[in-house]
Amino acid sequence: MNLDKIIAVRTGKTVYKETDRVIKVFDSDYSKSDILNEALNQARAEEAGLNVPKLLGIEKEDGKWAIISEYISGKTVADIIAENPDKTDEILKRFAELQIAFQRNNTSVFARLRDKVERRITRSQLDEKSKNRLIGELCELPDGDSLCHCDFSPSNVIIDEKGNPVVLDWSHAARGAAEADAASTYLRFLFEDRLKAEKYIYFYCKSADKKRENIEKLIPIMAAAMSVSRYASERNVLLRLAVL
Ligand SMILES: Nc1ncnc2c1ncn2[C@@H]1O[C@H](COP(=O)(O)OP(=O)(O)O)[C@@H](O)[C@H]1O
Ligand SMILES: [Mg+2]
Repeated sequence: MNLDKIIAVRTGKTVYKETDRVIKVFDSDYSKSDILNEALNQARAEEAGLNVPKLLGIEKEDGKWAIISEYISGKTVADIIAENPDKTDEILKRFAELQIAFQRNNTSVFARLRDKVERRITRSQLDEKSKNRLIGELCELPDGDSLCHCDFSPSNVIIDEKGNPVVLDWSHAARGAAEADAASTYLRFLFEDRLKAEKYIYFYCKSADKKRENIEKLIPIMAAAMSVSRYASERNVLLRLAVL
């Protein structure tokens, strides 16, 4: 493996480009099951006919697992927003519409979001009373049958050279309520820019014809679930949002 060209560095992982392949290398302490689950979800999405980078392999080198995928030439929606700040509204509107279209894909191959969220809330650092309250609220909400990528954010969508959207980063994908997917996107925007988060939710609700309050109900629940895997700096914010 020739790991010369770094394209992204994150806590616990580094993404490299090698000719027409992308190699996502995880630190040696990264959970093996999380890595394999990400690759499995990517393979499931590919087999379901979704527009995703082809999974080319999983390898282990120097004690580190790596997911190898097809390289997609193009720009992420995050790049496009950064290059066109005056067009942010229009881009966010199209991004929300894209997510809505994506949520309508076949989801039968994915695990149930409700089960994943419940497991994560149980593992979170919240006190028992808050965990039980959130799990109770989760159980009262409709299950849903939408494709929930649960990390649908501008850096995870590449617009390829033909103008087609390709969705990356499948570690959290599941089958559930579209509102839960929107709540997780809202939270991911919130860490970057509150104004963008508000604009996103406005466009999402308008285009999906959904009530904002139904997404807001899911924000503490999804924040609690996300607090388990997010970076330490974000965890406290998520835990606070979970008990609002
Ligand atoms: N298959 C790919 N083709 C082109 N660029 C990619 C590909 N996979 C990842 N990238 C780039 O690397 C970045 C990080 O990859 P990603 O899988 O989203 O990692 P993370 O889990 O750390 O967010 C993406 O935002 C994108 O810019
Ligand atoms: Mg990503």
